[in-house]
Amino acid sequence: MLSGRRVILGVCGGIAAYKAADLARRMTREGCTVSVVMTANAARFVTPLTFRTLTGRPVAMDLFADPASSVPHISLAQWAEAVVVAPATADCLARAAQGRADDLLAALLLDTPAPVLWAPAMNTRMWEHPLTQANVKKLIDLGHGFVNPGVGVLACGEEGKGKLAPVEDILAAVHALLVPAGPLNGKRILITAGPTREPWDAIRFLSNRSSGRMGYALAEAARRRGADVTLISGPVALTPPEGVRCIRVNTAVEMHAQAMALFPQTDIVIAAAAVADFRPAAVTEQKLKKHEMKPNIELIPNPDILAEMGQKKTRQILVGFAAESVPDLEAAGRKKLESKKLDLIVVNAAGGEHDAFAAEASAALLLDARGHKQILSKRLKSELAAAILSRIEGLLEV
Ligand code: CTP
Repeated sequence: MLSGRRVILGVCGGIAAYKAADLARRMTREGCTVSVVMTANAARFVTPLTFRTLTGRPVAMDLFADPASSVPHISLAQWAEAVVVAPATADCLARAAQGRADDLLAALLLDTPAPVLWAPAMNTRMWEHPLTQANVKKLIDLGHGFVNPGVGVLACGEEGKGKLAPVEDILAAVHALLVPAGPLNGKRILITAGPTREPWDAIRFLSNRSSGRMGYALAEAARRRGADVTLISGPVALTPPEGVRCIRVNTAVEMHAQAMALFPQTDIVIAAAAVADFRPAAVTEQKLKKHEMKPNIELIPNPDILAEMGQKKTRQILVGFAAESVPDLEAAGRKKLESKKLDLIVVNAAGGEHDAFAAEASAALLLDARGHKQILSKRLKSELAAAILSRIEGLLEV
Protein backbone atom coordinates (compact mmCIF):
# COMPACT_ATOMS: atom_id res chain seq x y z
CA MET A 1 0.00 0.00 0.00
CA LEU A 2 2.75 2.44 0.89
CA SER A 3 5.16 1.50 -1.85
CA GLY A 4 7.42 4.32 -2.91
CA ARG A 5 6.07 6.69 -0.23
CA ARG A 6 8.37 8.69 2.07
CA VAL A 7 7.53 8.89 5.76
CA ILE A 8 9.33 10.33 8.76
CA LEU A 9 8.68 8.35 11.90
CA GLY A 10 9.32 10.50 14.97
CA VAL A 11 9.97 8.43 18.08
CA CYS A 12 9.78 10.02 21.55
CA GLY A 13 11.04 8.73 24.87
CA GLY A 14 8.43 6.43 26.32
CA ILE A 15 8.16 2.74 27.02
CA ALA A 16 5.94 2.37 23.92
CA ALA A 17 8.99 3.27 21.78
CA TYR A 18 9.52 -0.46 21.24
CA LYS A 19 6.16 -0.59 19.45
CA ALA A 20 7.42 2.06 17.04
CA ALA A 21 9.95 -0.54 15.89
CA ASP A 22 7.05 -2.74 14.76
CA LEU A 23 5.43 0.24 13.01
CA ALA A 24 8.72 1.03 11.22
CA ARG A 25 9.07 -2.61 10.18
CA ARG A 26 5.53 -2.84 8.82
CA MET A 27 5.72 0.41 6.86
CA THR A 28 9.07 -0.66 5.40
CA ARG A 29 7.64 -4.05 4.42
CA GLU A 30 4.93 -2.23 2.46
CA GLY A 31 7.66 -0.62 0.38
CA CYS A 32 7.62 2.69 2.24
CA THR A 33 10.89 4.58 2.73
CA VAL A 34 10.93 5.30 6.44
CA SER A 35 13.32 7.82 7.98
CA VAL A 36 13.33 7.57 11.75
CA VAL A 37 13.98 10.67 13.84
CA MET A 38 14.47 9.95 17.54
CA THR A 39 14.54 12.26 20.52
CA ALA A 40 17.46 11.82 22.91
CA ASN A 41 15.12 10.19 25.45
CA ALA A 42 13.75 7.76 22.86
CA ALA A 43 17.27 6.41 22.39
CA ARG A 44 17.27 5.48 26.10
CA PHE A 45 14.41 3.05 25.46
CA VAL A 46 15.32 1.66 22.01
CA THR A 47 18.63 1.97 20.23
CA PRO A 48 18.94 3.80 16.89
CA LEU A 49 20.51 0.60 15.57
CA THR A 50 17.15 -1.19 15.92
CA PHE A 51 15.47 1.34 13.61
CA ARG A 52 18.42 1.52 11.25
CA THR A 53 18.31 -2.25 10.84
CA LEU A 54 14.53 -2.36 10.35
CA THR A 55 14.35 0.52 7.87
CA GLY A 56 17.72 0.14 6.18
CA ARG A 57 18.24 3.89 6.56
CA PRO A 58 20.25 6.13 8.87
CA VAL A 59 18.46 7.33 11.99
CA ALA A 60 18.56 11.08 12.63
CA MET A 61 18.75 12.50 16.15
CA ASP A 62 20.97 15.51 16.28
CA LEU A 63 19.91 19.00 15.23
CA PHE A 64 23.55 20.03 15.06
CA ALA A 65 24.95 17.02 13.24
CA ASP A 66 27.46 17.81 10.52
CA PRO A 67 25.24 18.82 7.60
CA ALA A 68 27.72 17.28 5.20
CA SER A 69 27.49 13.86 6.81
CA SER A 70 23.81 13.60 7.63
CA VAL A 71 20.50 14.86 6.34
CA PRO A 72 19.84 18.32 7.75
CA HIS A 73 16.36 18.87 9.18
CA ILE A 74 15.32 21.20 6.38
CA SER A 75 15.83 18.71 3.58
CA LEU A 76 14.36 15.88 5.67
CA ALA A 77 11.31 18.00 6.45
CA GLN A 78 10.82 18.80 2.76
CA TRP A 79 11.50 15.21 1.70
CA ALA A 80 8.73 13.67 3.80
CA GLU A 81 5.23 13.02 2.46
CA ALA A 82 3.99 12.47 6.01
CA VAL A 83 5.37 12.75 9.54
CA VAL A 84 4.14 10.21 12.07
CA VAL A 85 5.06 10.69 15.73
CA ALA A 86 4.64 7.42 17.62
CA PRO A 87 4.83 7.29 20.54
CA ALA A 88 4.30 10.98 21.16
CA THR A 89 4.97 12.16 24.72
CA ALA A 90 3.19 15.00 26.54
CA ASP A 91 6.44 16.95 26.32
CA CYS A 92 6.76 16.57 22.55
CA LEU A 93 3.11 17.60 22.04
CA ALA A 94 3.67 20.63 24.28
CA ARG A 95 6.80 21.70 22.44
CA ALA A 96 5.15 21.25 19.03
CA ALA A 97 2.06 23.19 20.16
CA GLN A 98 4.33 26.04 21.27
CA GLY A 99 6.28 26.05 18.02
CA ARG A 100 9.55 25.22 19.77
CA ALA A 101 12.48 23.91 17.76
CA ASP A 102 14.81 22.70 20.47
CA ASP A 103 15.59 19.29 19.03
CA LEU A 104 15.62 17.76 15.56
CA LEU A 105 12.10 16.32 15.76
CA ALA A 106 10.60 19.59 17.02
CA ALA A 107 12.45 21.64 14.39
CA LEU A 108 11.33 19.29 11.69
CA LEU A 109 7.68 19.47 12.82
CA LEU A 110 7.86 23.25 12.56
CA ASP A 111 9.46 23.10 9.17
CA THR A 112 7.60 20.40 7.27
CA PRO A 113 4.80 21.07 4.79
CA ALA A 114 3.77 17.39 5.08
CA PRO A 115 0.73 16.25 7.06
CA VAL A 116 1.49 15.26 10.66
CA LEU A 117 -0.04 12.33 12.52
CA TRP A 118 0.34 11.91 16.27
CA ALA A 119 -0.02 8.67 18.22
CA PRO A 120 0.36 9.74 21.87
CA ALA A 121 1.19 7.40 24.74
CA MET A 122 1.46 8.51 28.36
CA ASN A 123 0.08 8.19 31.83
CA THR A 124 -3.71 8.81 32.09
CA ARG A 125 -3.44 11.97 34.19
CA MET A 126 -0.88 13.46 31.82
CA TRP A 127 -3.11 12.68 28.82
CA GLU A 128 -6.23 14.05 30.49
CA HIS A 129 -4.50 17.11 31.89
CA PRO A 130 -6.11 20.30 30.55
CA LEU A 131 -2.71 21.54 29.33
CA THR A 132 -2.12 18.38 27.26
CA GLN A 133 -5.68 18.51 25.93
CA ALA A 134 -5.23 22.20 25.05
CA ASN A 135 -2.03 21.30 23.17
CA VAL A 136 -3.81 18.51 21.31
CA LYS A 137 -6.61 20.92 20.37
CA LYS A 138 -4.09 23.47 19.11
CA LEU A 139 -2.47 20.86 16.89
CA ILE A 140 -5.83 19.57 15.62
CA ASP A 141 -6.77 23.16 14.77
CA LEU A 142 -3.55 23.32 12.73
CA GLY A 143 -4.74 20.31 10.74
CA HIS A 144 -2.68 17.62 12.49
CA GLY A 145 -4.19 14.14 12.80
CA PHE A 146 -4.40 12.02 15.96
CA VAL A 147 -4.68 8.32 16.64
CA ASN A 148 -5.80 8.65 20.23
CA PRO A 149 -4.43 6.41 22.96
CA GLY A 150 -6.49 3.49 24.14
CA VAL A 151 -7.44 2.18 27.57
CA GLY A 152 -5.37 -0.52 29.21
CA VAL A 153 -2.81 -1.34 31.85
CA LEU A 154 -0.09 1.29 31.53
CA ALA A 155 3.63 0.88 32.12
CA CYS A 156 3.23 2.60 35.51
CA GLY A 157 0.95 -0.24 36.61
CA GLU A 158 -2.23 1.86 36.59
CA GLU A 159 -5.17 1.16 34.36
CA GLY A 160 -6.66 3.91 32.22
CA LYS A 161 -6.40 5.88 29.03
CA GLY A 162 -2.92 6.52 27.69
CA LYS A 163 -1.80 3.28 26.04
CA LEU A 164 -0.39 3.70 22.52
CA ALA A 165 -3.08 2.86 19.95
CA PRO A 166 -2.59 -0.55 18.28
CA VAL A 167 0.04 -0.46 15.51
CA GLU A 168 -2.71 -1.60 13.05
CA ASP A 169 -4.73 1.54 13.84
CA ILE A 170 -1.69 3.80 13.36
CA LEU A 171 -0.90 2.05 10.08
CA ALA A 172 -4.50 2.46 8.91
CA ALA A 173 -4.28 6.19 9.68
CA VAL A 174 -1.04 6.42 7.66
CA HIS A 175 -2.81 4.68 4.77
CA ALA A 176 -5.73 7.08 5.02
CA LEU A 177 -3.25 9.94 4.84
CA LEU A 178 -1.16 8.68 1.95
CA VAL A 179 -3.32 6.38 -0.13
CA PRO A 180 -5.71 8.59 -2.05
CA ALA A 181 -9.39 7.75 -2.03
CA GLY A 182 -9.79 8.63 -5.72
CA PRO A 183 -11.82 6.59 -8.21
CA LEU A 184 -8.91 4.22 -8.96
CA ASN A 185 -8.46 3.31 -5.31
CA GLY A 186 -9.03 -0.45 -4.96
CA LYS A 187 -9.69 -0.96 -8.68
CA ARG A 188 -8.11 -4.06 -10.24
CA ILE A 189 -6.03 -2.92 -13.18
CA LEU A 190 -4.32 -5.19 -15.68
CA ILE A 191 -1.54 -3.61 -17.72
CA THR A 192 0.36 -5.23 -20.58
CA ALA A 193 3.77 -3.77 -21.38
CA GLY A 194 6.85 -4.18 -23.51
CA PRO A 195 7.39 -6.14 -26.69
CA THR A 196 6.78 -9.83 -27.23
CA ARG A 197 9.47 -12.14 -28.60
CA GLU A 198 8.42 -14.69 -31.16
CA PRO A 199 11.05 -17.43 -31.39
CA TRP A 200 12.13 -18.89 -34.67
CA ASP A 201 14.85 -21.19 -33.42
CA ALA A 202 16.83 -21.66 -30.18
CA ILE A 203 18.43 -18.19 -30.38
CA ARG A 204 16.57 -16.16 -33.00
CA PHE A 205 13.31 -14.31 -32.60
CA LEU A 206 11.07 -11.62 -34.11
CA SER A 207 10.38 -8.62 -31.89
CA ASN A 208 10.14 -4.81 -31.87
CA ARG A 209 11.76 -1.78 -30.21
CA SER A 210 9.22 -1.32 -27.38
CA SER A 211 11.04 -0.49 -24.11
CA GLY A 212 8.06 -1.11 -21.80
CA ARG A 213 8.47 2.40 -20.31
CA MET A 214 4.89 3.46 -20.96
CA GLY A 215 3.32 0.38 -19.38
CA TYR A 216 5.67 0.50 -16.37
CA ALA A 217 4.97 4.23 -15.85
CA LEU A 218 1.23 3.50 -15.96
CA ALA A 219 1.63 0.64 -13.46
CA GLU A 220 3.53 2.88 -11.03
CA ALA A 221 1.07 5.77 -11.36
CA ALA A 222 -1.96 3.47 -10.96
CA ARG A 223 -0.40 1.91 -7.86
CA ARG A 224 0.13 5.37 -6.40
CA ARG A 225 -3.56 6.04 -6.90
CA GLY A 226 -4.38 3.01 -4.77
CA ALA A 227 -5.15 0.53 -7.57
CA ASP A 228 -4.42 -3.19 -7.33
CA VAL A 229 -2.11 -3.52 -10.32
CA THR A 230 -0.97 -6.57 -12.27
CA LEU A 231 1.62 -5.96 -14.95
CA ILE A 232 2.09 -8.57 -17.67
CA SER A 233 5.43 -7.70 -19.12
CA GLY A 234 7.31 -8.84 -22.18
CA PRO A 235 11.13 -8.91 -22.01
CA VAL A 236 12.34 -5.45 -20.97
CA ALA A 237 15.26 -4.05 -18.97
CA LEU A 238 13.05 -2.35 -16.35
CA THR A 239 12.43 -3.17 -12.69
CA PRO A 240 8.74 -3.52 -11.84
CA PRO A 241 7.47 -0.72 -9.59
CA GLU A 242 7.11 -1.46 -5.86
CA GLY A 243 3.76 -2.93 -4.91
CA VAL A 244 2.89 -4.06 -8.44
CA ARG A 245 2.37 -7.76 -9.23
CA CYS A 246 4.51 -8.54 -12.27
CA ILE A 247 4.09 -11.57 -14.53
CA ARG A 248 6.89 -11.95 -17.04
CA VAL A 249 6.20 -13.51 -20.41
CA ASN A 250 8.03 -13.84 -23.71
CA THR A 251 5.59 -14.58 -26.47
CA ALA A 252 2.21 -13.17 -27.51
CA VAL A 253 0.66 -16.58 -26.85
CA GLU A 254 1.97 -16.50 -23.25
CA MET A 255 0.79 -12.91 -22.78
CA HIS A 256 -2.61 -13.85 -24.16
CA ALA A 257 -2.97 -16.83 -21.79
CA GLN A 258 -2.03 -14.81 -18.70
CA ALA A 259 -4.16 -11.81 -19.65
CA MET A 260 -7.29 -13.82 -20.48
CA ALA A 261 -7.00 -15.79 -17.22
CA LEU A 262 -7.04 -12.53 -15.23
CA PHE A 263 -9.58 -10.70 -17.39
CA PRO A 264 -12.82 -11.81 -15.61
CA GLN A 265 -11.61 -10.38 -12.26
CA THR A 266 -10.29 -7.17 -13.80
CA ASP A 267 -11.96 -3.75 -13.72
CA ILE A 268 -9.68 -1.89 -16.14
CA VAL A 269 -7.30 -3.15 -18.82
CA ILE A 270 -4.57 -0.95 -20.25
CA ALA A 271 -2.93 -2.66 -23.20
CA ALA A 272 0.37 -0.84 -23.62
CA ALA A 273 2.28 -3.86 -24.94
CA ALA A 274 3.54 -3.90 -28.50
CA VAL A 275 2.34 -7.42 -29.19
CA ALA A 276 3.76 -9.06 -32.30
CA ASP A 277 0.90 -9.65 -34.72
CA PHE A 278 2.53 -12.78 -36.19
CA ARG A 279 4.87 -15.55 -35.10
CA PRO A 280 6.97 -18.04 -37.05
CA ALA A 281 4.85 -21.06 -37.97
CA ALA A 282 7.61 -23.52 -37.08
CA VAL A 283 9.96 -23.12 -34.12
CA THR A 284 13.12 -25.21 -34.07
CA GLU A 285 14.49 -26.29 -30.71
CA GLN A 286 18.06 -26.22 -32.01
CA LYS A 287 19.91 -23.32 -33.54
CA LEU A 288 19.33 -23.55 -37.28
CA LYS A 289 22.35 -23.94 -39.53
CA LYS A 290 22.69 -21.53 -42.41
CA HIS A 291 22.06 -24.29 -44.94
CA GLU A 292 18.88 -25.32 -43.08
CA MET A 293 17.34 -21.83 -43.32
CA LYS A 294 15.04 -20.63 -46.04
CA PRO A 295 15.11 -17.00 -47.13
CA ASN A 296 11.44 -16.62 -46.14
CA ILE A 297 9.94 -17.29 -42.71
CA GLU A 298 6.40 -18.56 -42.75
CA LEU A 299 4.33 -16.61 -40.21
CA ILE A 300 1.02 -17.37 -38.57
CA PRO A 301 -1.21 -14.81 -36.76
CA ASN A 302 -1.02 -14.32 -33.01
CA PRO A 303 -4.15 -13.92 -30.92
CA ASP A 304 -5.23 -10.28 -30.65
CA ILE A 305 -5.53 -9.98 -26.87
CA LEU A 306 -7.30 -6.64 -26.78
CA ALA A 307 -9.74 -7.48 -29.60
CA GLU A 308 -10.71 -10.68 -27.78
CA MET A 309 -11.27 -8.71 -24.57
CA GLY A 310 -13.46 -6.31 -26.57
CA GLN A 311 -15.64 -9.28 -27.57
CA LYS A 312 -15.79 -10.69 -24.05
CA LYS A 313 -16.06 -7.56 -21.95
CA THR A 314 -18.89 -7.25 -19.46
CA ARG A 315 -18.19 -4.28 -17.18
CA GLN A 316 -14.48 -3.81 -17.90
CA ILE A 317 -13.03 -0.56 -19.17
CA LEU A 318 -10.64 -1.23 -22.05
CA VAL A 319 -7.84 1.13 -22.92
CA GLY A 320 -5.70 0.44 -25.96
CA PHE A 321 -2.70 2.02 -27.62
CA ALA A 322 -2.19 2.63 -31.29
CA ALA A 323 1.26 3.24 -32.68
CA GLU A 324 0.70 4.71 -36.12
CA SER A 325 2.90 5.99 -38.88
CA VAL A 326 0.05 7.24 -41.09
CA PRO A 327 -0.55 11.02 -41.45
CA ASP A 328 -4.13 10.93 -40.08
CA LEU A 329 -3.53 9.61 -36.56
CA GLU A 330 -7.06 10.44 -35.45
CA ALA A 331 -8.80 8.45 -38.18
CA ALA A 332 -6.51 5.46 -37.65
CA GLY A 333 -6.99 5.63 -33.88
CA ARG A 334 -10.76 5.91 -34.08
CA LYS A 335 -10.91 2.93 -36.43
CA LYS A 336 -8.96 0.83 -33.92
CA LEU A 337 -11.05 2.12 -31.00
CA GLU A 338 -14.22 0.96 -32.74
CA SER A 339 -12.96 -2.32 -34.18
CA LYS A 340 -11.55 -3.48 -30.81
CA LYS A 341 -14.59 -2.10 -28.86
CA LEU A 342 -12.41 0.08 -26.62
CA ASP A 343 -13.44 2.80 -24.19
CA LEU A 344 -10.29 4.83 -24.74
CA ILE A 345 -7.35 4.74 -27.10
CA VAL A 346 -3.97 6.43 -26.79
CA VAL A 347 -2.63 7.17 -30.24
CA ASN A 348 0.98 8.06 -30.81
CA ALA A 349 3.41 8.22 -33.65
CA ALA A 350 5.61 5.28 -34.61
CA GLY A 351 8.75 5.95 -36.59
CA GLY A 352 9.87 9.31 -37.93
CA GLU A 353 10.86 12.37 -35.91
CA HIS A 354 7.98 12.05 -33.37
CA ASP A 355 8.57 8.34 -32.74
CA ALA A 356 7.11 7.35 -29.36
CA PHE A 357 8.67 3.90 -29.42
CA ALA A 358 11.29 3.36 -26.72
CA ALA A 359 11.43 7.16 -26.18
CA GLU A 360 11.49 8.76 -22.73
CA ALA A 361 8.93 11.35 -23.71
CA SER A 362 6.17 11.49 -26.29
CA ALA A 363 3.01 13.29 -27.31
CA ALA A 364 -0.32 11.49 -27.60
CA LEU A 365 -3.87 11.83 -28.77
CA LEU A 366 -6.59 10.44 -26.51
CA LEU A 367 -9.83 9.37 -28.18
CA ASP A 368 -12.76 7.93 -26.29
CA ALA A 369 -15.84 5.98 -27.30
CA ARG A 370 -18.06 9.00 -26.71
CA GLY A 371 -16.28 10.96 -29.42
CA HIS A 372 -14.12 13.12 -27.11
CA LYS A 373 -10.64 13.99 -28.20
CA GLN A 374 -7.73 15.28 -26.07
CA ILE A 375 -4.31 16.28 -27.37
CA LEU A 376 -1.43 15.72 -24.96
CA SER A 377 1.67 17.68 -25.91
CA LYS A 378 5.07 15.99 -25.69
CA ARG A 379 5.92 15.10 -22.08
CA LEU A 380 7.72 12.46 -20.01
CA LYS A 381 6.04 9.06 -20.02
CA SER A 382 5.43 9.39 -16.26
CA GLU A 383 3.48 12.60 -16.96
CA LEU A 384 1.71 10.97 -19.87
CA ALA A 385 0.75 8.11 -17.56
CA ALA A 386 -0.75 10.55 -15.04
CA ALA A 387 -2.79 12.26 -17.77
CA ILE A 388 -4.04 8.92 -19.14
CA LEU A 389 -5.07 7.76 -15.66
CA SER A 390 -6.90 11.02 -15.00
CA ARG A 391 -8.80 10.46 -18.26
CA ILE A 392 -9.67 6.90 -17.14
CA GLU A 393 -10.88 8.32 -13.80
CA GLY A 394 -13.13 10.61 -15.80
CA LEU A 395 -14.60 7.58 -17.59
CA LEU A 396 -15.25 5.84 -14.26
CA GLU A 397 -17.02 8.84 -12.79
CA VAL A 398 -19.56 9.24 -15.59
N1 CTP B 1 -2.81 -5.66 -29.11
C1 CTP B 1 -3.07 -6.83 -28.43
N2 CTP B 1 -2.79 -8.02 -29.01
C2 CTP B 1 -2.28 -8.09 -30.25
C3 CTP B 1 -2.00 -6.89 -30.95
C4 CTP B 1 -2.27 -5.70 -30.36
O1 CTP B 1 -3.54 -6.78 -27.29
N3 CTP B 1 -2.01 -9.26 -30.78
C5 CTP B 1 -3.14 -4.37 -28.49
C6 CTP B 1 -1.95 -3.49 -28.22
O2 CTP B 1 -1.44 -3.69 -26.91
C7 CTP B 1 -2.54 -2.10 -28.40
C8 CTP B 1 -3.61 -2.29 -29.43
O3 CTP B 1 -3.94 -3.65 -29.40
O4 CTP B 1 -3.16 -1.64 -27.22
C9 CTP B 1 -3.28 -1.85 -30.81
O5 CTP B 1 -2.20 -2.51 -31.30
P1 CTP B 1 -1.61 -2.24 -32.79
O6 CTP B 1 -0.51 -3.22 -32.98
O7 CTP B 1 -1.32 -0.83 -32.97
O8 CTP B 1 -2.84 -2.59 -33.64
P2 CTP B 1 -3.15 -3.72 -34.60
O9 CTP B 1 -4.49 -4.19 -34.22
O10 CTP B 1 -2.07 -4.74 -34.61
O11 CTP B 1 -3.24 -2.97 -35.99
P3 CTP B 1 -2.13 -2.52 -37.04
O12 CTP B 1 -0.87 -3.28 -36.73
O13 CTP B 1 -2.75 -2.88 -38.31
O14 CTP B 1 -1.96 -1.04 -36.85
